[in-house]
Amino acid sequence: MNHDFDRVLARYNQRVRDEAVIQHGMPFSEIHTRRDEFLLPIGEDVGWFLRALVIARRAKRIVELGTSYGYSTLFLADAARVTGGVVHTLDIAVDKQAYARAQMEQAGLCEFVAWRPGDALKSLQAIKGPIDFVLIDLWKDLYIPCLELLLPKMSDNGVIAADNMLFPAISRPDADAYRAVVRDKSELQSMLLPIGSGVELSCVWRS
Ligand SMILES: C[S@@+](CC[C@H](N)C(=O)[O-])C[C@H]1O[C@@H](n2cnc3c(N)ncnc32)[C@H](O)[C@@H]1O
Repeated sequence: MNHDFDRVLARYNQRVRDEAVIQHGMPFSEIHTRRDEFLLPIGEDVGWFLRALVIARRAKRIVELGTSYGYSTLFLADAARVTGGVVHTLDIAVDKQAYARAQMEQAGLCEFVAWRPGDALKSLQAIKGPIDFVLIDLWKDLYIPCLELLLPKMSDNGVIAADNMLFPAISRPDADAYRAVVRDKSELQSMLLPIGSGVELSCVWRS
């Protein structure tokens, strides 16, 4: 980490606070309709946790499903800087990725990120394995189809972190369905971590 990272994170966190003010009292239906305006970030606790996990795992090929404006990318890219890896970050919203790219440039982390605009279900087919670490954080109905595409490419002790398992409430049916699927896979060991919006952490374990 360096001062550029700190400055970019501070700016993101200011935007998180500003958006909380805008969203205060707003009906959830309106937040949902306007969701592309907002960061929808994993939050700082989860960001630091995932950064530590990527470094501890010495993950090199990292995949992020859902760049949004780059809040989570910042932590993953900084971890990739430490491990000598690359974050392949996927988002269907090209304008959001452009914003994220500008932030990574300012943080001095662009060389550790491969930008993959477009539908994740298509982009994932072009990503080679073995994948060491994945953050799944796109629209919730896509978690299971993305998991099925990812799993055969995961390295033998890869890690998959899936966000929004507990919040928001509207995502619970999709989150519960995802958790049931990962727990049914004999090659995954999974647990629910009550940090941030709830993270399902699944470790690949092939005997
Ligand atoms: C919750 S946000 C990601 C937040 C980000 N991980 C962070 O912590 O800052 C979900 C993102 O998934 C993206 N998304 C939705 N459907 C997608 C698809 N089919 N392929 C790729 N990205 C998609 C949305 O554009 C949105 O930016």
